[in-house]
Amino acid sequence: MTVNRNTPGIGLRLAHLAEMVATRPSIGWLEVHPENFLTNPHAAELLSELSAYYPISLHTVGISIGSASGINRLHLKRIRTLAERIHPVLMSGHLAWSTHGNEYLNDLLPLPYNRESLELVAGHVLEVQDALGRPYLIENPASYVGFHSSTMTETVFLWEIVERTGCRLLCDVSNVVVSAHNMGFDPCRYVDDFPADAVSEIHLGGYTPEEGLLIDTHAAPIADRSWDLYAYAVRRFGSRPTLIEWDNQIPPLKALLEEAEHAHYAHTC
Ligand SMILES: [Fe+2]
Repeated sequence: MTVNRNTPGIGLRLAHLAEMVATRPSIGWLEVHPENFLTNPHAAELLSELSAYYPISLHTVGISIGSASGINRLHLKRIRTLAERIHPVLMSGHLAWSTHGNEYLNDLLPLPYNRESLELVAGHVLEVQDALGRPYLIENPASYVGFHSSTMTETVFLWEIVERTGCRLLCDVSNVVVSAHNMGFDPCRYVDDFPADAVSEIHLGGYTPEEGLLIDTHAAPIADRSWDLYAYAVRRFGSRPTLIEWDNQIPPLKALLEEAEHAHYAHTC
């Protein structure tokens, strides 16, 4: 199965899993967090059922490519075992770190962008791709802080990672809006500088304003600023498989499907 680059998909969360299996609504593709299925055999069975009808993307949240203490190889092996069952069309993760040693921090934490972190991340991406036997997509983070020790921009860092590893990129357009607001840069310029040829997927998610910042909560409809930047990004990158993410205060499935319709309209207008 392949993903049609003009057909949006939705992030499928456990709350909608049974309804998806029962009703099988028309939608281009689905993306799940594989970590939600590793210790839930019933959910894994339902996902396996859905994989006969929909292209599935596995978006990992526990492979910590920015971790100074290395990648958890057991976790990677379990993700691969699930992938062998589901046959995902895409596999992706974040430019961030979320583990240290045996500690799992349940957050996507930022990295400085310099030579040292570049070596570390590139090595981990190669390790992940080797273990999964396929290219891995790296997603740009939503940022709230920068580091004095950074010596390059995020887009240059991503160019370097692509160059060294042959990985692909997932451009989260809403993360660009959030980071641009919080860090004070021009979101269109960021999209201009993003490695367009390496983009294999786009994300759109809702954010929440809080004390002057934008927080990447995935708890709201997609904001107009994200739709506008999405249209700009599609002009720059061309059509790419686009996914609606909604992880908190999850609405009825119907509302998610309507957001995906909106993406289809924004894509083609
Ligand atoms: Fe995302």
